[in-house]
Amino acid sequence: MNSLISLKRKLVCSIGYRMIRMLYEIKHFILKKYCLLPWVGARFEKIEEKVYAIEGLLLLGQDKWLFKAAKDLPDAATIVEIGGYKGRSTCALAFGCVGTKKHIFTIDTFNGNKVDFDVINRKNFFNEWRRNIEKNGLLDYVTPLVGFSSDISHTWTKPIDLLFIDGSHKYEDVLSDFDRFYQHVVPGGIVAMHDVEPRHPDCLRVWNERANFELTDTGAVSSLAFGRKPGRV
Ligand SMILES: C[S@@+](CC[C@H](N)C(=O)[O-])C[C@H]1O[C@@H](n2cnc3c(N)ncnc32)[C@H](O)[C@@H]1O
Repeated sequence: MNSLISLKRKLVCSIGYRMIRMLYEIKHFILKKYCLLPWVGARFEKIEEKVYAIEGLLLLGQDKWLFKAAKDLPDAATIVEIGGYKGRSTCALAFGCVGTKKHIFTIDTFNGNKVDFDVINRKNFFNEWRRNIEKNGLLDYVTPLVGFSSDISHTWTKPIDLLFIDGSHKYEDVLSDFDRFYQHVVPGGIVAMHDVEPRHPDCLRVWNERANFELTDTGAVSSLAFGRKPGRV
């Protein structure tokens, strides 16, 4: 008798779980199909309000640069973002991928680090990051990789078309982010680094000592510096 009740309970739970899952998939499908449709091939001005609504650390013009950089990549391109925080830069990149097979991998502890982004007394912001991606119907374009970039770099193998570095701002970490992921950037691929400015001397140092020598076609949107890996596009 007891086992019959327990079986019944399991059945009810499993049906309940499947129904919730189905409702979630329907919501996701509707969001993707109808809410994203107007943004296929859209200009940044059409989506800027959605991006600016997310708390983040980008300066004027930098969201637009990320959006356009993602949009100009070939279909099925791979984007790696180190440091997604609450999803502002992730969404700027992801809106540039709408309607394509491009994909973003966002690497973040979602918990800061103990050196330059110590959020020990604040709560983990993974859920907020995810909510912001989901709210904008962009989940299909982004995969979070939770952990320290130095750890994730050891197992990374995919060729990268666009690398955006905005994680730890400590010299050794920025240098390691650049070196370990740059080797996977395809010839002609783009590398962008945030906070390349005197207020963040470690980022500036990596840019001046390393990135600036490796990259061609370099430029900047205030503190966001970028360039291209030499070779055929
Ligand atoms: C400056 S914020 C990124 C801001 C984000 N790009 C934006 O524009 O909204 C830095 C992020 O890097 C993450 N982070 C810091 N050190 C890290 C590390 N060593 N590995 C992975 N993520 C790290 C932090 O948790 C934080 O979310």
